[in-house]
Amino acid sequence: MPDTKSIFNSVAKNYDLLNTLFSFGRDKQWRKRLAQEIDDSELVLDIATGTAEVAIELSNNSNRRCVIGIDPSHVMLELGQRKLQSMGVTHKIDLVQGTAEILPFKDNKFDAITIAFGIRNTFDPMKSLIEMKRVLKPMGKLGILEFAVPQNKIFGPPYMFYLENVMPLVGSIFGTRKEYKYLGDSISEFPNREYFVSLLQDTGFVLQKSIELMIGTVIIYIGVKEK
Ligand SMILES: C[S@@+](CC[C@H](N)C(=O)[O-])C[C@H]1O[C@@H](n2cnc3c(N)ncnc32)[C@H](O)[C@@H]1O
Repeated sequence: MPDTKSIFNSVAKNYDLLNTLFSFGRDKQWRKRLAQEIDDSELVLDIATGTAEVAIELSNNSNRRCVIGIDPSHVMLELGQRKLQSMGVTHKIDLVQGTAEILPFKDNKFDAITIAFGIRNTFDPMKSLIEMKRVLKPMGKLGILEFAVPQNKIFGPPYMFYLENVMPLVGSIFGTRKEYKYLGDSISEFPNREYFVSLLQDTGFVLQKSIELMIGTVIIYIGVKEK
């Protein structure tokens, strides 16, 4: 199993910039859409929060009481914390260190949970989903934003080429070739959408909808915790 904590500690410095580059400037819109899908939930947990981009989007809703962001990488969290300070939103968002597999919160605590580009990086996605269900209130919403390989026969092969070759090449310019090779591979190796939906259902979520963005290279899954 790759050491994702050290991978993200290494890429943290240029993470936001490369995200924008690799997504052709679309990544902020995708996170905004995820935050919109979570509606007015008061207390929201953002897992794999990284540099707090989703947490910040979530905090823009005036009905939000508090957002907690959790991530194992202290370097990502430090950058996130600096961002919160420069934006003056530290009173709305708390950042804590930890993993999705062992969430340091009591049962039925959160009104909603988000995880953006993170579920495929957890050591054990099923264990993580079970933990999410534990800390989510009954009927609480889970929003998962994740990459996918497009099923379209025309876009699939060039996208695979992009993941396997272009991402590591651009990563190498920033001294992080092997890290971006891992990130590209983790997208192509992540279970397909049908399998992932069955995982969601097996762990006790009802799929409310899935939204395909950018010709199926990005998907938002919205699930609800069964009572
Ligand atoms: C691709 S980044 C996404 C960051 C952020 N959500 C965003 O939208 O930019 C993936 C994040 O997952 C975190 N991560 C890795 N393993 C994890 C785990 N087991 N539990 C929770 N987060 C994890 C990494 O530290 C990293 O910050």
